[in-house]
Amino acid sequence: MKQLDEEEVGGAVGRSPPRRDGPGKVTGRAKYLDDLTFPDQLWGRTVRSTVAHAKVKSVTFDPAFDWSGITRVTATDIPGENVVALIVDDQPCLADGVVRHCEEAIALIAGKDREQLEQALLHVKIEYEPLPPVFDLLHSDVAFKKYKIERAVETLPEIFAKAYRIVEGTYKVRHQEQMYIEPNAICAVPRPDGGVTIHGSMQCPFYIHRALQRLMKLPTEKIAVIQTVTGGGFGGKEDYPSMLAGHAALLARKAGKPVKMIYKRDEDVAATTKRHPAVIKHRTAVAQDGTLLGCEIDVVMDGGAYCTLSPVVASRGVLHAGGAYRWPACRIDCRVVMTNTPPNGAFRGFGVPQTMFGIEAHMERIAHELGLDPLELRRKNALELGDQTPTGQELLWSVAAQEVLDAAVAKSDWHRKRHLFESEVTGRKRRGIGLSLALHGAGFTGAGEVRLKARAGVELTPRGCRVLAISTDIGQGTETVFAQMAADSLGVNFDDVEVAIPDTSKMPDSGPTVASRTVMVVGGTIASAARALQAALASFAAERYGAEAGQVTCREGIFYATVPDSPAERPLAPFGAIASAYLDERGPLRCIEQYAHPPGIEFDEVAYRGDAYPCFAWAATVVELEVDLDTFEIKLDRVVHACDVGKAIHPVLAEGQIEGGTVQALGYALLEEHFYKEGRVINTRLQNYLIPTSMDAPVIESVLVEDPYPHGPYGAKGLGELPMDGPAPAVVAAVLHAIGALVPELPVTPERVMAALEAAR
Ligand code: MOS
Repeated sequence: MKQLDEEEVGGAVGRSPPRRDGPGKVTGRAKYLDDLTFPDQLWGRTVRSTVAHAKVKSVTFDPAFDWSGITRVTATDIPGENVVALIVDDQPCLADGVVRHCEEAIALIAGKDREQLEQALLHVKIEYEPLPPVFDLLHSDVAFKKYKIERAVETLPEIFAKAYRIVEGTYKVRHQEQMYIEPNAICAVPRPDGGVTIHGSMQCPFYIHRALQRLMKLPTEKIAVIQTVTGGGFGGKEDYPSMLAGHAALLARKAGKPVKMIYKRDEDVAATTKRHPAVIKHRTAVAQDGTLLGCEIDVVMDGGAYCTLSPVVASRGVLHAGGAYRWPACRIDCRVVMTNTPPNGAFRGFGVPQTMFGIEAHMERIAHELGLDPLELRRKNALELGDQTPTGQELLWSVAAQEVLDAAVAKSDWHRKRHLFESEVTGRKRRGIGLSLALHGAGFTGAGEVRLKARAGVELTPRGCRVLAISTDIGQGTETVFAQMAADSLGVNFDDVEVAIPDTSKMPDSGPTVASRTVMVVGGTIASAARALQAALASFAAERYGAEAGQVTCREGIFYATVPDSPAERPLAPFGAIASAYLDERGPLRCIEQYAHPPGIEFDEVAYRGDAYPCFAWAATVVELEVDLDTFEIKLDRVVHACDVGKAIHPVLAEGQIEGGTVQALGYALLEEHFYKEGRVINTRLQNYLIPTSMDAPVIESVLVEDPYPHGPYGAKGLGELPMDGPAPAVVAAVLHAIGALVPELPVTPERVMAALEAAR
C-alpha cells in the first residue's frame, strides 16, 4: 500500500490523507443506529410468512395473550398505497391476501420490552391455503424482464457453419449474501406535523423518501431521511431499507412514538436481498488461431418473488455478457424470472460477476479445447480503442485491457510460474496459475444518468466549503474523496472542506450510492460546483483588491492575481479572509450543479443499441493456488489484481476497494453458498454461511493502472464494483491449469472439483 508521502505537495487528489470516517470507527465513537436513543422509543418486530406461496386465510392475534402495550399493524393500517415503490409496483409493504415467498412480512408489532415482543411474535397465528411454488429458475414461466442484444445476427448462421470450432458451455452461479457488518437498521420518528423522520443505515436516502410518499400518503416536505453511520452496504442497502423504513413508519404512526427496527443476523440473511443466481449458456464460433468470430449467449437470472431491481441488474448483466472482447457478430439473450424465494437485488457488481464468470470460464474452455494459451487468446480478442461493443458502442477513450493484462502478467511473474507449475507433476498437490480479464461500465446503465439529472454542490464556509450531496459513505470513503476533490477544485486545503451528513431535507438529490457512480458522476459534479464557487469568490476578491476579474485564482487557501505583462502572481489574501468578508457582506453562497453526461453518449433503450456507459473500467486478475488431489481442497497462495481506475483520487482507499472486493469475490468463488428448503434459506448465520476471514485471504497485490477518462473528475472513473468481477473465473482458470479440469459452477467446492476431475477423465 502507498503511504502518505509528506514530500508530495500541491493538492489533495492523488494523495492519501487520513480517511474522514476512520477515527470514529476505530475508537468506537461513531454512532451507528443501535447507539442512538430516541425519547420514548419502541422496538419493532416483523411477523413473517413461514411458507413460500399461499393464500393468507387469516391473521389472528391470540386473544389469550396480553397485548397491552403492544402496537399491532396489518395491511389495513396503511394510509397510502400498499407498495414498496421502486421500478414496478408489484411488491407490497405488508402481504395482503397472498404470500409469494418465505419471510414475507405480513404484520408488524412494536413495544418497549424486547422479551415481551419475542413472546408476542409467537402468538400471531397465520392460516394459509397453500399454492404451488416455483423454486427452479429454469422452470419459471414468469419473466420480469427480457433483453436481446443483436449485432450482425444475419451473418451468424454462416459464421457458425464455417467456423474452425464451435465451443459450447453452460455456467452456473448461485446466491451470494452481502453480509455487511451492520444489519439493516432503521428508526422512524413521528413528527408533530403528521410527517415522519427516518434515521438509519442506508445507501439511497431518496429511494426511501419516494417510497414513503406513496406508502404513507405524505407530501415531500413531511418526510426527512437522514443517514446514520452505516456499517457496509455492498448493494444490500440499496432497496431493502425502503421496505424496512415503511414498516418502522407504519408502527411509529400508529404508536405515536419513535420505532426502531434492527434486524438480527439470521433475520437479515433470511429476509433481505442477495445476488441473483444465474445460468449462462455460451456457444461460440472460433477460428483456428483463436479469433472469436461470433457467439450466442443465453442468460437466465433468478429474480425471486418480486421485481425490485431485477430489470436493471439483468440489464447490466446482459450488457457485460460478451466480456472484454470484440465480437463481429453476436446474439445475447437474457431473462430474469420469478421464483418463490425472497427477492434478489443489488450486490456489488450488479449482474456482472455472474455474466463475467460465464464468459471468462468459457474463454478458459475455448483455450483448453483448442490448445491455445489463455493469455494470448485474451490479448488477441480484447477490445481496443475504436472497437465496438455488442451494442455498437464505439470505445472512444480509456480502454485499458492490454495495460491491465501487462500489469498483472508482470507483477505475477506469469510466464515463469505457468511453466514452473506445469513441470511439477509429482506428489499429491498440484499448483496452478490462472487469469481473467474484465470490464465494468461506470455509472448508471444507458440513459439512467441522463434521466436522473443528479445534483450536488458546495456551500461556502468561513474556512472553505461544505459538500452537499445525498451520496452516502458506507465504508468506501465517500466523505474523504469528496473532500479531496472539492478542496482541489475550490483551491483550499483538504482540512478546510466539510462533508454534510446526507439528509433529504437539506441537500439536492445526487442519486443513489450505487453503480460505481459516486466518484465519477457525483464527484465530478461536486468538483465542477467547487470551481464555480471559486470563480464567484474570485470576482468578489478582484473587486475588493483592485485586480482584474478573471485574473484571480485560488490555490491551497490563498487567492492570487496575475501581474500584467509578467508570469508572476501576487498574493491577494487568504481564502478565509475573502470567504468571511463575502459571508458578512452578501450572505450564504451555494453552488449546486447538475451532472453533465459526455456529449454524444447516447443509448437506445428499446433497440438496446448505443453507448451503454460513458466509459468502462478494466481489470486483470491472476490467481495462484494449490489443489490437493486427495481431498480436492484448494489453498489460495496469491492474487494479483490490476485495476484501471482512470485516476486514483485516494490511492490507499482505492487499493482498499480492490483488496476488499477481491476477498468478497474469492468468497463467491470458493465458499459462499446458500441452502434452501422449500424456499427457505436454512443457513442464516455466520457459523453456517462462511465468508472469508483474514485467515482465508491470500497475499493480495493490487496494481493501480491509470488510463484517464477525459470526462471524469481528474480522469477518474468507477472502481467500487470492478474488483468483484474477475477473481472467481481466475480461480476456475487456475484450477484448470493445476488439474486439467474445468469447474463450470460456483462456488468451487471440493465436491465440484472432484466431479469436474471425474468428468475430465
Ligand atoms: Mo449497487 S450493487 O449498484 O447498490
